[in-house]
Amino acid sequence: MTGSDDRRYRPETRLVHAGQMRSGFGETSEALFMTQGFVYDTAEECEARFSGEEPGFLYSRFSNPTIAMFERRLAAFEGAEAARATASGMAAVTAALMGQLKAGDHVVAARALFGSCRYIVENLLPRFGVASTLVDGTKLETWRDAVRPTTRTFFLETPTNPTLEIIDIKEVAAIAHAAGATLVVDNVFATPLWQSPLALGADCVVYSATKHIDGQGRCLGGVILASEAFIDKHVHTFLRQTGPSISPFNAWVLLKGLETLPVRVRRQTDTAAAISVALVEHPKIARMIYPGRPDHAQAGVARKQMRGGSTIVAFEIKGGKAAAFRFLNALKLVRISNNLGDSKSLITHPATTTHQRLRPEERAELGIGDGLVRFSAGLEHPDDVAEDLFQALERA
Ligand SMILES: Cc1ncc(COP(=O)(O)O)c(C=O)c1O
Repeated sequence: MTGSDDRRYRPETRLVHAGQMRSGFGETSEALFMTQGFVYDTAEECEARFSGEEPGFLYSRFSNPTIAMFERRLAAFEGAEAARATASGMAAVTAALMGQLKAGDHVVAARALFGSCRYIVENLLPRFGVASTLVDGTKLETWRDAVRPTTRTFFLETPTNPTLEIIDIKEVAAIAHAAGATLVVDNVFATPLWQSPLALGADCVVYSATKHIDGQGRCLGGVILASEAFIDKHVHTFLRQTGPSISPFNAWVLLKGLETLPVRVRRQTDTAAAISVALVEHPKIARMIYPGRPDHAQAGVARKQMRGGSTIVAFEIKGGKAAAFRFLNALKLVRISNNLGDSKSLITHPATTTHQRLRPEERAELGIGDGLVRFSAGLEHPDDVAEDLFQALERA
């Protein structure tokens, strides 16, 4: 095997080449090692691998060459010392939190979280004796006020799903560290291209690789990125012993996805920004939310911590659920889906899907009205997308 981890190159070049391990066949594209386990020439070699004296792979639940290439490539782009891939984004979130926590600990999280992440914090962790407090992530004093002597970790996503609030990662990291806690950031909505939470002070970044990293609707995956010390202490053993492992096949799909990620995300971001401008004056639109807009509630924080806007736009249709449903049902090109970050433009009605589990007053607190829709820009020609949205608005 030969490696290619040349640190001279810029991040986008490293997304194409970093982490590659070529076999003796000299393949151009990365090989897919679809194997459960590995064999050893001698019992002594096997012993040395297990004791860690000799490097090498042992068992694909926790080490596999294709999975390692995916982990190393994303780590190189993200500027992380280490990464671990998982079967889904939720497996990554669960491991990043549970790997750090024990009964008696306390977690502080922003209340604007993807539905399943909120379930982990609000419902799952308390079943194991871990207390949690949800705060308005955009208000720094609420993080400070929530700290207890037992607080071990802070958790947030930014931009948030679906209302695209921006939370100040640097400031929240400082509050967490002053309290002796860590900060875990779900960077799905920003993508690795537009935001680097580790550089802003976060201790751990998680992704649903299902979203932009695959970006073509094919497979699920997740990733946890952090320092070697964080991964060794909190993540590696948890994953190895509990087994939420990614298939080498899915890791290979995601590895190839990384090569085109910047090209796709730039195009999707341009389309999302154009839609946010084109639709804002439409008489059927009550509210337009886009992190790149100067009228965004946290525009200053977005400018400070993000290198680009977002591939997602949220907007409120006048007339509540009935009007939003008429709009969705009239779309011909943009498809109704709860997914995002895909090459196909997708649209979601959060109140009846991703955030259905919340009580109406909790949705109201988060700004998720019955007329709100979340649009994820695809790779189609932007004019075709805009024309489809306009014709459907006429029927809303
Ligand atoms: C912000 C965010 N985090 C985590 C997840 C979970 O990812 P997965 O569906 O890959 O488990 C999602 C999925 O929609 C998400 O939007």
